[in-house]
Formats: sequence, C-alpha cells, structure tokens
Amino acid sequence: MVCQKIRIAACLAGATRRRMAMPEVAQVIQVPGLDYDIVVGHRGIVDIPNRIQRVVDADRAVVVTDDVVGPLYARSVVESLNNVGMEAVLISVPPGDSSKSMAQAGRLFDALAERQHGRDEPIVAVGGGVVGDLAGFVAATWHRGVPWIPCPTTLEADIDASIGGKTAVNHPSGKNLIGAFHQPALVCIDIDCLDTLSGRDYTAALAESVKHAIIHAPDFFVWHEQNAALIVQRDPGVVEELVARNCRIKAEVVAADMRETASQNVGRAALNFGHTAGHAVEAYFEYRLRHGEAVALGIVAALDLAVRHAGFPEGDRQRCERLMAELGMACRAPERFEPEQVIERLATDKKVRRRHVRFVVPTQMGSVRWLESPPRADLARALDRIQPD
Ligand SMILES: NC(=O)c1ccc[n+]([C@@H]2O[C@H](COP(=O)([O-])OP(=O)(O)OC[C@H]3O[C@@H](n4cnc5c(N)ncnc54)[C@H](O)[C@@H]3O)[C@@H](O)[C@H]2O)c1
Ligand SMILES: [Zn+2]
Repeated sequence: MVCQKIRIAACLAGATRRRMAMPEVAQVIQVPGLDYDIVVGHRGIVDIPNRIQRVVDADRAVVVTDDVVGPLYARSVVESLNNVGMEAVLISVPPGDSSKSMAQAGRLFDALAERQHGRDEPIVAVGGGVVGDLAGFVAATWHRGVPWIPCPTTLEADIDASIGGKTAVNHPSGKNLIGAFHQPALVCIDIDCLDTLSGRDYTAALAESVKHAIIHAPDFFVWHEQNAALIVQRDPGVVEELVARNCRIKAEVVAADMRETASQNVGRAALNFGHTAGHAVEAYFEYRLRHGEAVALGIVAALDLAVRHAGFPEGDRQRCERLMAELGMACRAPERFEPEQVIERLATDKKVRRRHVRFVVPTQMGSVRWLESPPRADLARALDRIQPD
C-alpha cells in the first residue's frame, strides 16, 4: 500500500464520538505519487482564491459551473478571485449529464479562444461531476493541457469524480467515450456546499463511500457501521471525516496505478467494483437512476458473485447490505427488469476484454480480484438479488 502523509491540523481521533467537532483548519491530503493537494474544509478555511494563487502563476482564470451551482457558489468564487487580483469570468452550462457533450465543450473552447486563454491560466470547475468532467476535458485539451482546479459541490464529486484525473464528455453512443487523463493542479473541497445538495444526491453518492471501504479499508467500513446514523443526519464533523477519508482512499488507489494499466493485479480498476452491473442497470433504466443508486445495485449483485466465486464470507455480504440499508440506500431496483437485457448490456461494458465480461469482486473486506466470465446462470442469480419483491 502506498504510504501517505497527511497534515491534519485538528485531531480526528474518537471517530465514534456522538457529534463530531469540525476541525478549525482545513485538512490537506497529500499522497506520494499524486502531485496535487486535496484540501477539505468548510467555508472560509478552504480559502479557494489564495490556494489557487499558490499553485498557478497566472492573473486570469475561467470558472466553469452549471446554472444551479452558479448562483449558489460559483459567482462568489469568481468574486473572491477578482478580490485577490485574479481576473476571472464565469461560464455556465445547463445542469445535467447532457452538458457533458462535445457541443458544450465547443462552447467553452470558443470562450477560451475569445479570451486568448493562455497555457498557465487555470480552468476552475465549481459544480458536481458533470461540470468537473466537462471542464477537466476542456482543460486537458486546450493548449494540450492547462491547469484544472476542481472545486466540487456534490458528494459524488467530492469523493470520486474530482480525484484521479479522469475527464470526459459523452458521445451519443455511450457515456465518457471521449476523454483524457489530466490530473488537477489542486482540489478544493468546501463541504458546506453539501448543505444545499438534495437528499437523493447525497444518499446515492454514499454508494461510492461504501465501495471504497469494501475494496480498500475494512476499518473504514466499521467506521460507517458505527457512524451510520450521523452520516444519515449529515452531521458536519462526520461528513467532513467521510469526505477526507474517501479522498485519501481514492488518491491512494489511483496513485498506485495512475492510468489504469496494472495487469498483474486489479490496480486502479478496483474502483470499478459495483460498476459493471451498475452501469448495465443504469443504462437499462435509461439513466433515470442516480449513478450512485445504480452502483449500490451493482455492489449487491457483485457481492453475490463474490460469495460464490471468490470466497467472500456470506456474513460480510449480509453486513454490506445491512449497512447500505441503514444509510438509506435501496438494495433493490425500483421496478422489475428483464435480466437477459441487463446481461446483454454487460457485454458492452468497458471492462470487457476479448468479449469476456470481467467483474471486480472482493475476496474479503479490503481485497479484490478479477472474476472472469462467470456462468450466465450465476449472473442471472446475482441480478435476481436486486429484483424488487
Ligand atoms: N471523472 C471521474 O472519475 C468520475 C467519477 C464519478 C462520477 N463521474 C461523473 O460525474 C457525473 C455525476 O456527478 P454528480 O453526481 O455530481 O452529478 P451532477 O454534476 O449532475 O450534479 C447533480 C445535480 O446537483 C446539482 N448540484 C451540484 N452541486 C449542488 C449543490 N451544492 N447544491 C445543490 N445542487 C447542486 C447540479 O446542478 C445537478 O443538477 C457523471 O457524469 C459521472 O460520469 C466522473
Ligand atoms: Zn461511480
């Protein structure tokens, strides 16, 4: 495991204390192999403009957001950049995954061209994973790469999308098909932004947190069990610890396999646990489920395969489902689906190698391996677990 150096200015010991105190100073997460800081804190102490000025040598920036997040947060980021002498403009896209498009990327390229956006000038993304992926893709390709600074405002983006340098837009034939690896220059997470996030988006993103715990950190899984009620109540101290610990885990996993090229072991692809069946179910329901909601179903299905084929203990499978239910996540699909159609969609998953479907499955809490081409009957059985009663 990659060791990590973390400067945490406040003591986070006693994670199970009944109401977690908020650290007075931002946490700066640094992981060897990852060339950027991940700053986690609440309003005021994150201090986005000054942190940006420390990592880029520029006096202009473009801030990208969506029409929901603009008035809530991005406009004030622009103002605060202007206040420290950095000339910033705001570009907003409509909310929703349809903005991860070549059309919106083209709009951003036009704006950059008009401004003569230079090589050292950052693109700051204030928003959820959609804004981050779009702005990151544009930053990856403009001048073959300009500094990209995600300031995520959803839990999904805090704990997953902003870290690891995967950027992409969608093609009509599939999600995230046009993309590039481009590491951020800095990630600034103001967890106070989560105050306005819908309960549905918050709960859905917890699937990624449970995923991180299962694949990488058994102690973090226990932490979820001990703090489930406070996580559901969005206790500020617990949410801050949840975000920081997830960031560290994701950063460690990606730093060990930056471009997902590990062949001997699962490497970064471990992060795809729950995503094989999850993506198929997400597509089957035509993206009416939140991504995290589909991932939760994918985790339930993959755990069934893990018990059958990878020696994952049945007791731990039950613990996982119990925790997910305690966190308010649905472990069954919203309506019955055609298993054969979902199985067909599995064959188009990105993890397919030479037409063999591959799943990431845990062998025990904290360890995963590949499962190649499980028998069709077992796939059907695993999917049956997520059929509603
Ligand atoms: N690059 C990666 O590694 C990676 C990882 C995970 C997900 N993703 C991508 O991220 C996207 C999903 O991200 P998401 O779940 O953040 O969705 P999103 O960006 O669509 O945000 C969800 C909704 O919440 C609104 N919103 C954002 N912040 C808010 C706030 N603080 N208060 C109120 N409303 C707010 C948005 O306007 C949007 O309507 C997908 O496109 C997915 O492919 C990428
Ligand atoms: Zn995901």
